Amino acid sequence: MAGQPIPVIIDCDTGVDDALALLFAVRHPGLELRAVTCVAGNTDVDGVVRNTLTVLERAGAGDVPVARGAERPLIEAARSARHVHGTDGMGDLGLPAPVRRPADVDAVTLLRREILRSPRPVTLVPTAPLTNIALLLRIHPEVTRNIERIVFMGGAVATGNATPVAEFNVWHDPEAAAVLLTAGVPITMYGLDVFQRVVVPGQEVRRLRASAEPGARLAGELLAHRPAAPGSDADDDAAGGLGDAGAVCAVADPGGLTTRLLPVEVSLAPGPGRGQTVVDRRPRPGEAEIHGGAREGAMVDVALDVDVARYVELYLETVAGGRAQAN
Ligand code: BDR
Ligand code: CA
Repeated sequence: MAGQPIPVIIDCDTGVDDALALLFAVRHPGLELRAVTCVAGNTDVDGVVRNTLTVLERAGAGDVPVARGAERPLIEAARSARHVHGTDGMGDLGLPAPVRRPADVDAVTLLRREILRSPRPVTLVPTAPLTNIALLLRIHPEVTRNIERIVFMGGAVATGNATPVAEFNVWHDPEAAAVLLTAGVPITMYGLDVFQRVVVPGQEVRRLRASAEPGARLAGELLAHRPAAPGSDADDDAAGGLGDAGAVCAVADPGGLTTRLLPVEVSLAPGPGRGQTVVDRRPRPGEAEIHGGAREGAMVDVALDVDVARYVELYLETVAGGRAQAN
């Protein structure tokens, strides 16, 4: 319905860029953050819960319910990304421990409750390994009747990061990602192809870090911990990627993203391809289909291009009231 905020639930592994995503979701007037659920990924699940509560308190959103979810993937062992996100999983910024506690229900229970309670269908935004979401879909499949769509950060059309072909969130729990893709609701894949491109210029990161407003300053500190990917067109060393926050921008402003409905399949076989999102961009069936096999992949709206300036602008406007004035 026009004019009403979009009900959103974020499932995350906070995580420097998950924190950037939470700050944006809390502050965007077109989004209503109903709950946040936590899963093991960038760090262990208790660290994720702590980081998530800290960010929400710093952002002035201490009343959003937060729940602890899966402490390891369905089949794999947990494999953290602390080498990227620091020993505390959120940049080792020395932030105080949160005052409040997580909800007294687990993440799957909170997801079910908040999805079914929402007066309008919810947009689910997973920015982490998909373990909680797979469990939700298997334990409570009825939730799909009140899910508008799922916009997830994960996968890659071209190059991976955890392996040459696999992106971290999908690689961490490939079976869970395969369950997500067959959820039977519209799905948008905000993969590495666009994720790595949305970079905030160094001048803006410096300005945020100097801000007197705690949420904006935290965004600056977090961005400073996210150097742009090698080869990106970032302006200097201080520039920082929005990462997961870009997926939430895509919910608030879908017009900034170019997507195409394409078949996507997660590679589950052991070996170098495990965790790859195989995106079929061929214009017509190939030999594999001609000689008997049907196309296997679920149909997913795959992000192929992003308006970088538009999302940077949107982020700065939302979290810090706009860009620095040229002087
Ligand atoms: C994804 O992996 C995590 O490290 C980030 O938070 C992001 O969700 C990128 O591959
Ligand atoms: Ca993440």
